[in-house]
Amino acid sequence: MQNKFRDLVQPLIVLTGLVIVMSACRHEKPNFIYMPDMVYSPALKAQKVGSMRMPVQGTVPRDFVPYPFKNDAELAGRELKNPFRPTRAVLEQGQKIFNITCRTCHGTLGLGDGTVVPRYPRPPSLQSDKVRNWSDGSIYHVITVGQNIMPSYASQIAPADRWKIIHYLRVLQRSQHPTAEDLKILNQESK
Ligand code: HEC
Repeated sequence: MQNKFRDLVQPLIVLTGLVIVMSACRHEKPNFIYMPDMVYSPALKAQKVGSMRMPVQGTVPRDFVPYPFKNDAELAGRELKNPFRPTRAVLEQGQKIFNITCRTCHGTLGLGDGTVVPRYPRPPSLQSDKVRNWSDGSIYHVITVGQNIMPSYASQIAPADRWKIIHYLRVLQRSQHPTAEDLKILNQESK
């Protein structure tokens, strides 16, 4: 009985030892290759020419709408129309995205006093006569392609949200430049 146990365990110990010792060997040159095709597959670097499948010419990804006014702010200002009406839901969504993205630089009311200023150059006021007289399309254009040091927000903000931000920006502008009619309503409400 004793011997049988030893006969069984001894080779196991030797084998385990061998595996441990061999595993420390370097296998830079394997001496037997089972499947040469898989060992020597071409090593392409990810994201490099050759390993990337390029989109077929003239096609766009699903749900992507190309922006045709990249180099023509004036045309964008004339042609683009805000597809939304300023309902409460639209304004609330616009406010949300404005406060997440634009406020950092432009400030809560768009005065150019965001928290990154003055470490980041102070942006012009969005309450200026210039921007108040801009069409929605012109503002959409700036959000989409950027302007000088303001970067494009096309990859962060969906087209629909850009239009909603603009409706909200109009609210901000009106809050700082109320009409006589607005003031009358305000005065009535505060009575
Ligand atoms: C990183 C800071 C930053 C963020 C975020 C930012 N802007 Fe700007 N924005 C600027 C700066 C700086 C300018 C002035 C660029 C220039 O010199 O022409 C500017 C210019 C503009 C202008 C043109 C103003 C003018 O008088 O020419 C508009 C409109 C505008 N931004 C709207 C927005 C909106 C809407 C958002 C949010 C989607 C936004 N910006 C987000 C920094 C920012």
